[in-house]
Amino acid sequence: MHNINELKNEIFQLLENATKDEVESLKIKYLGRKGILPSILRGLKDLPQEERKKVGKEANILRKELEDYFTKYYKANTTIQKSSSFLDYSLPGREPSIGSIHPLSKAMDEIIDIFTRLGFQIEYGPDIETDYYNFEALNIPKYHPSRDMQDTFYIENSDLLLRTHTSPVQIRAMEKSKPPIRIIVPGRCYRKDEIDPSHSPVFHQIEGLYVDKDVSFADLNGILSAFARDYFGTDTKTRFTPSYFPFTEPSLEMYVSCVFCEGKGCNVCKHTGWLEVLGCGLVNPKVFEYVGYDANKYSGFAFGGGIERFAMLKYGINDMRLFFENDIDFLKGIIK
Ligand code: DAH
Repeated sequence: MHNINELKNEIFQLLENATKDEVESLKIKYLGRKGILPSILRGLKDLPQEERKKVGKEANILRKELEDYFTKYYKANTTIQKSSSFLDYSLPGREPSIGSIHPLSKAMDEIIDIFTRLGFQIEYGPDIETDYYNFEALNIPKYHPSRDMQDTFYIENSDLLLRTHTSPVQIRAMEKSKPPIRIIVPGRCYRKDEIDPSHSPVFHQIEGLYVDKDVSFADLNGILSAFARDYFGTDTKTRFTPSYFPFTEPSLEMYVSCVFCEGKGCNVCKHTGWLEVLGCGLVNPKVFEYVGYDANKYSGFAFGGGIERFAMLKYGINDMRLFFENDIDFLKGIIK
């Protein structure tokens, strides 16, 4: 009744030329619950004893052979997905992140913008300076403490150093052109300071220089107070106190009314109501001598301040180290 051998030849012939999908349906057709081999095995009980034994044995062998065949087939034809190439389409998408402007750049841009509207031009100078521009021509004497090895990064076996302030660009600008001069100089500066919340060996300054006939303290006051009102807010008051810088005479320190307590007194202004923001003064005639300007004909004012401090006061940042750590949350969240 059942020629198992014939069945076997038939199956393997079909399998030989089958595609993946066909193999799958052949497996169901022959081995599935209602498949040919299981029905043969189920029907054994109706066969005469002799035949039952023979057919039963052959059918079981064939079933085993087929099972082995399919196991091998799947092993050879299934590539296991590696986790690295596995795509989980059910995961929510990742939001692309949008860049933001670094708070230091932002402060720098705003300050530059205010001064350019007041008629100043932007000037740049080299980070690597000579002793002459960084100190000598600015009337900083040989034994002035700022020349100390402790404060300045000197470049070995040379006259070169990393500029400690942006003031040397005053000299370079005056050497290049005659008055009137109205420049601002943004740039990086270097000092041998330990890193702490208010110090960094690399920091940024903005320098200003205004030289013309009859420039007086009234011009300094007018320009710098206008800048302070523009940068910190229209109600900002300014105040000047005496100071000392070798390149200005007289020298002053400019204070603005505290941007946090509006002058009432808080922790940031140490309960004085005032914040020191920059150094300034009238250009020392000795500096004019170095660049060949006639001090009887021209006068001027200069100023310089730290960009980090301007940014910290404006954006309420209390630790300078944040500017240089590139913490993504800081960079993202600090400015609206
Ligand atoms: N160069 C000074 C410093 O680094 C800042 C400064 C003070 C610059 C007074 C000036 C100025 O132009 O007039 O501390």
